[in-house]
Amino acid sequence: MSNNIDKFPDNFLWGGAVAANQCEGAWNVNGKGVSTADVATAGSVNTPREYTEGIIEGKNYPSHEAIDFYHRYKDDIKLFAEMGFKCFRTSIAWTRIFPNGDESEPNEEGLKYYDNLFDECLKYGIEPVVTISHYEMPYGLVEKYGAWRDRKLVDFYLNYCNVIFNRYKEKVTYWMTFNEINVITLHPFIPAGLRISKEENKEQVIYQAAHHQFIASAKAVKLGHEINPNFKIGCMVVYPLAYPETCNPDDVLAANNYMNKHYFFSDVHVKGHYPNYMKKYFERNNINIEFQDGDEEVLKLGTVDFIGFSYYMTLVVSGNTKGKTLTEGNMTKGIKNPYLKASDWGWQVDPVGFRISLNNLYNRYEIPLFCVENGLGAADTIEDDGSINDDYRIEYLREHIAEMKKAITIDGVEMIGYTPWGCIDLISASTGEMKKRYGFIYVDKNNDGTGTLERRKKKSFDWYKEVIKSNGENL
Ligand code: BG6
Repeated sequence: MSNNIDKFPDNFLWGGAVAANQCEGAWNVNGKGVSTADVATAGSVNTPREYTEGIIEGKNYPSHEAIDFYHRYKDDIKLFAEMGFKCFRTSIAWTRIFPNGDESEPNEEGLKYYDNLFDECLKYGIEPVVTISHYEMPYGLVEKYGAWRDRKLVDFYLNYCNVIFNRYKEKVTYWMTFNEINVITLHPFIPAGLRISKEENKEQVIYQAAHHQFIASAKAVKLGHEINPNFKIGCMVVYPLAYPETCNPDDVLAANNYMNKHYFFSDVHVKGHYPNYMKKYFERNNINIEFQDGDEEVLKLGTVDFIGFSYYMTLVVSGNTKGKTLTEGNMTKGIKNPYLKASDWGWQVDPVGFRISLNNLYNRYEIPLFCVENGLGAADTIEDDGSINDDYRIEYLREHIAEMKKAITIDGVEMIGYTPWGCIDLISASTGEMKKRYGFIYVDKNNDGTGTLERRKKKSFDWYKEVIKSNGENL
């Protein structure tokens, strides 16, 4: 038996994750078009973000400057390299390449930017991990086509994939097609640009748009493999593990049903067909998914190489939610779990739930997992001596990494890597705040947009550096 039995694999990809729309800024620079993220105003837990019809003068749109990663990426990547990152997950802003989404020719300046960004990573031996569309798409596609409700989006997306796959085929191996694709059922605008009127059958619109994204994703996987057979192309889902409130079978069934609504998305990507439980659901709820000739084959031929997923928290589900206190979570709410602590934003912290999730996903699909988001959103304080002692973040990550290690070494889960979210502070997707920070690197910027944008290492910076250096041994 190998004496490495209790260790992370040698080639494990430790790193960090961001998304273009939450860090780059430079929203209208060098030919970039307006994206769906660019029309999202700043909000807070109590004031939901607005998704305005175009840009409205006088509103605060945090993506417009974000943390100005667009101009500062060299210094930021240098800091990632100092932490020893093996990989760096970011996304390409679709609107830098196709400003309106339906052009046939790409914007060279946008392409050049990502050439430089990936080269900068590779200079330090950092493997870029790229999300093709992370909560961002050309706003032009929303205005002109109603976004993913129109099947034409499949072709626009594929044209975009074709351009970036060919351009970066020597630089990028790991790709993911759509960030948290299952969030479409919870917030149709954020991942899919859908605006749904009250008169419409909401689920019909959502699931038809999701079908278009499934087809786009499957075609992209096939295309990518043709362009470079070494590409590893994954889906990306949010994994909100739901516990039944009690062992009452009604609660257990409610939790199963809740999970199926999420598994639907990974099932299609990994198994290459619609599962029966959803076919029945559609039938019973009068939802007609329009399949074109050949769609079944497309799904079958475009199954993914790995599952990218985010894990932050768990929630509790009951057969009877009436009168129960709900708590916040990643894009979703659930009943409070009395056994768990929660973050200041109400997300329930559950390291053991992470191990359970890894087991659930791996045992269901038996393909490699890549945890591309995990972390604690918290407000940080700068002490008089300039230090930021984010022990709460270290504790969160330490406990999750320890559980991930058990999942790999004890339960036999196969994992590619781990990229904590927001390795440098960035704009929160749900609230648009800056105050909700995830980073190892602090960015001097406030909710109202003020701040010098200066970078500063937090205590967790050196801690994570040691984690990577010791390949997860020294937590
Ligand atoms: C995921 C998204 O939902 O969680 C990220 O993929 C997001 O874009 C992250 O930022 C954390 O959520 P939030 O709302 O705290 O930014």
